Amino acid sequence: MQKTTPTKIGILKRLLSTTAGLVPSGELVEALGVSRQAIWKGVESLKAETIGIESLPNRGYRLNHPPRYDLSPSWLECMLDGCQLGHPILLFESLDSTQEIAKDAARQGAPGGLVVLAEEQKSGRGRMGRSWLSPTGGNIYASVLLRPNIPPMKIQLVNLAAGLAVQSALQGLYDVRCSLKWPNDILWKGKKLCGILSEAASETDRVHYAVTGIGLNVNLDEAQLLEAGADKPSSIMEITGRETSRGDLLVRLLKEFWGNLSMLEQGQEGVSRIVSLYRERCSTLGKEVRVLTDTGIDYGIAENVTAEGALQVGVDGSTRVYAAADVLHVRASED
Ligand code: BTN
Repeated sequence: MQKTTPTKIGILKRLLSTTAGLVPSGELVEALGVSRQAIWKGVESLKAETIGIESLPNRGYRLNHPPRYDLSPSWLECMLDGCQLGHPILLFESLDSTQEIAKDAARQGAPGGLVVLAEEQKSGRGRMGRSWLSPTGGNIYASVLLRPNIPPMKIQLVNLAAGLAVQSALQGLYDVRCSLKWPNDILWKGKKLCGILSEAASETDRVHYAVTGIGLNVNLDEAQLLEAGADKPSSIMEITGRETSRGDLLVRLLKEFWGNLSMLEQGQEGVSRIVSLYRERCSTLGKEVRVLTDTGIDYGIAENVTAEGALQVGVDGSTRVYAAADVLHVRASED
């Protein structure tokens, strides 16, 4: 597992901001209040993250090149300076599910902002008890620990805020306009590009934590997509025709997500802004839908998204409200 530490981040920030090209190790020792040995260890660990740093004996350290590896945690954390998400970042080569690590950390009192990443998940989880296929090969599997200051009844809005963030990041970086199916599937030409799963623990008046898991297909090529098969997934590579830096995408996405969360925490006005933005961008509204719930299947027209993020559907002349359900667009070809 690769992990960011305050020392590593401190070193990297200094190396990134220096105009002199070189940072004397004495300056790092003084600025970070740690020993020379700790600085050396931090530099070695940054090098292991593929960040090119040259050590010049008796002179100091110099940054030679940005990381070759697109999910280098320390680099990501530096790029997320000023954003409250991504501090710290934990990266696993392989694990069962990033959700479990993030929820364990939450139960042990970790602060909001922690992001758990993995190259591969052996038991990736989707909504409604489904599994989320998570092979190695360049996707994003991320779980973000949040301690949102919003009432428990509004927790679904965190989920919607994440979907909006993914949609904005894709539009901003690649000029790709994907559709946002309620509650937060991101589709491209009807094929699933990204799934989001938010899990929360709360009491009557307070949310203890929420963990938002984001699975985004980035560099899966055509053959890999065919292998993933039945769920008709898509990937950024399929859309843009080229390989993408997952790091750049993740940074943009987390910044957008943080912006949306901050708005939600601003009270009623911020909540209304997120909900109206969501209504504008959600492709489910106005569509004929099939809604699968624990008790059965309903057919109707999706009419609205409530102030709590639930879906209102006109079914047989009356309106039903679904806080959580599996929704299918009956005419998927329109997505
Ligand atoms: C869905 O559309 O059903 C939600 C999929 C969520 C997948 C992500 S990948 C990162 C995180 N870890 C998991 O096990 N699931 C979520």
